[in-house]
Amino acid sequence: MNSLTIRRPDDWHLHLRDGAMMRGVLPETTRHFGRAIVMPNLVPPVVTGREAAEYRDRILSAKPKGSKFRPLMTLYLTEETEVRDLRAAAEIGLITAVKLYPAGATTNSASGVRDMGRVRRVLDNMAQIGLPLLVHGEVTDPEVDIFDREAAFIERVLDPIRRETPGLRVVMEHVTTRDAVDYVREGGPDLGATITAHHLVINRNHILAGGIRPHYYCLPVAKREGHRRALVEAATSGEASFFLGTDSAPHTDAAKLQPFGCAGCFTAPNAISTVAEVFDRAGALDRLEAFASLNGPAFYGLEPNADTITLAKGDAVPYPAQVETGDGPVTVFDPGMDLHWRVT
Ligand code: DOR
Ligand code: ZN
Repeated sequence: MNSLTIRRPDDWHLHLRDGAMMRGVLPETTRHFGRAIVMPNLVPPVVTGREAAEYRDRILSAKPKGSKFRPLMTLYLTEETEVRDLRAAAEIGLITAVKLYPAGATTNSASGVRDMGRVRRVLDNMAQIGLPLLVHGEVTDPEVDIFDREAAFIERVLDPIRRETPGLRVVMEHVTTRDAVDYVREGGPDLGATITAHHLVINRNHILAGGIRPHYYCLPVAKREGHRRALVEAATSGEASFFLGTDSAPHTDAAKLQPFGCAGCFTAPNAISTVAEVFDRAGALDRLEAFASLNGPAFYGLEPNADTITLAKGDAVPYPAQVETGDGPVTVFDPGMDLHWRVT
């Protein structure tokens, strides 16, 4: 097979940032993706409906001419989130989901939730209206090893939330472990998971063995090879619970390459080619469309994109090593292998 036409993919987890950075990185997403769930972890975070509307408008005005890209907005859940504001934003279709960051778990998560009891009423309301909760699934307990934080989150936080809030729709974002894959598989139609392009490719050796490589550092951090294989198996299975969310998370090189470097892999330019390469190697190109273009919309109750993209197989696909932004250069994810599937 040398050519593949699929419905246009969506990105179910994306960091677009704001200002000059957003203007620099947005075209890298709109080139390939029809829609994206836009993360709300700006500084300060997107907490109210009004802030989401203003952010959406800034994205729309930065969009390249002629692009039909649709940003799907989210609110950042805090212990002060107001039910009335959240319901109003959901009712008019302004927001598609709400994001839970445990306080301190990752980049710009300081306003996140410390005590789940304080968001109880919000979660009950979300269950009533079918508004999905997107979770950054890591505990922040300093006693828990960083490689175990996802598994601990399932047991300590996610499973209790789901038991206490029947009907709550949940997406476990950027899963990195076999534990998460197994949990999602057993979770029924109200539980889904996004998987990134980079977690399909790298394991923890890529970050740490033979020299430290900050551009591979993201959160949740990549785990052992066995976990990566479980992710590839889940993504390529075609199962409805698993869909592509790149978690493309641009930081300038200046912010990545320092003693206290930021977490995030910037994959927007080559995410589709990377995922196609992984599926090709797994002999699963016939399921690429389910993962990249069909399962996500089905979970969110949306139609797949009406248009298509065509991927052609050939020589190594060119993509820039860096993307220039008004804030400085951002290094593009290096999958460590030639990519052969180009979006034509
Ligand atoms: O690596 C990450 N980067 N993980 C996150 O959860 C946040 C993201 C960011 O905003 O940079
Ligand atoms: Zn993210």
